[in-house]
Amino acid sequence: MSVSKPLFLGNWKMNMLPAEVVSFAKKFNNLMTPVTPADSGIAGSFTTLQLLSEGFAENKSVLVGAQNVHWEQAGAFTGEVSASMLKPLGLDFCIIGHSERRTLFAETDETVSKRAKAALEAGFAAVVCVGETKAEYEAGKTNSVIENQLKGSLADVGNEFLTKLVIAYEPVWAIGTGLAATPEQAESVHCLIREQLVDKYGNLAEVVPILYGGSTKAENIAGLISRKNVDGALVGGASLKPESFWALVENGRNAFVD
Ligand code: PGA
Repeated sequence: MSVSKPLFLGNWKMNMLPAEVVSFAKKFNNLMTPVTPADSGIAGSFTTLQLLSEGFAENKSVLVGAQNVHWEQAGAFTGEVSASMLKPLGLDFCIIGHSERRTLFAETDETVSKRAKAALEAGFAAVVCVGETKAEYEAGKTNSVIENQLKGSLADVGNEFLTKLVIAYEPVWAIGTGLAATPEQAESVHCLIREQLVDKYGNLAEVVPILYGGSTKAENIAGLISRKNVDGALVGGASLKPESFWALVENGRNAFVD
């Protein structure tokens, strides 16, 4: 599937049991005003994907995604899941290289790039995450860290996938801390990402949504998304309840500036 702007994606991380998934989908479907093309979505853990897919089967405004995918299709890779395994679930996208994967599970730019390519080749949109740590931020290294991560993470991603590519800028110091980046901070890094994308892919890279992630909620999304290069959000905590996620999507839609 192709992606469009704005885009608000929930990242449930290692949360949500089956009954909670069913209840979330039912409530979110009732709360939300449908739009075409889809502008919201949820990435669940592997065990929730079937239920998520069923829960949103009738609602084309909500995308469903996985939080990771391996680059090989099958083989001796204990604990991993391949694109061909995800394919029958009818998913739309995969998150790749979230900072929790990078810092806690030794994911590197090289593996992120291979996973992104596998997701895209399977027809999924790939949400490639980049972001600097608190120490890097405090040392003034944000721009160089982001440049290097983006370069390495997109090494295997060619022009042919541009309409399915999404970048998420998530400063690690802002994730789950309640301390979101300011709209100015986010826009400055998103500008840098946009320039780098245009350098690599040409002007067509303007279509790539660049999402901000890190302590977003209904109360702060408007300021962030009204910046030119902030095209949406990757949302952790605020996506776990249908009411808080819908409030964020609604406020985000209203304040979005392309
Ligand atoms: P948060 O998480 O919204 O809870 O800060 C964002 C993320 O990790 O994607």
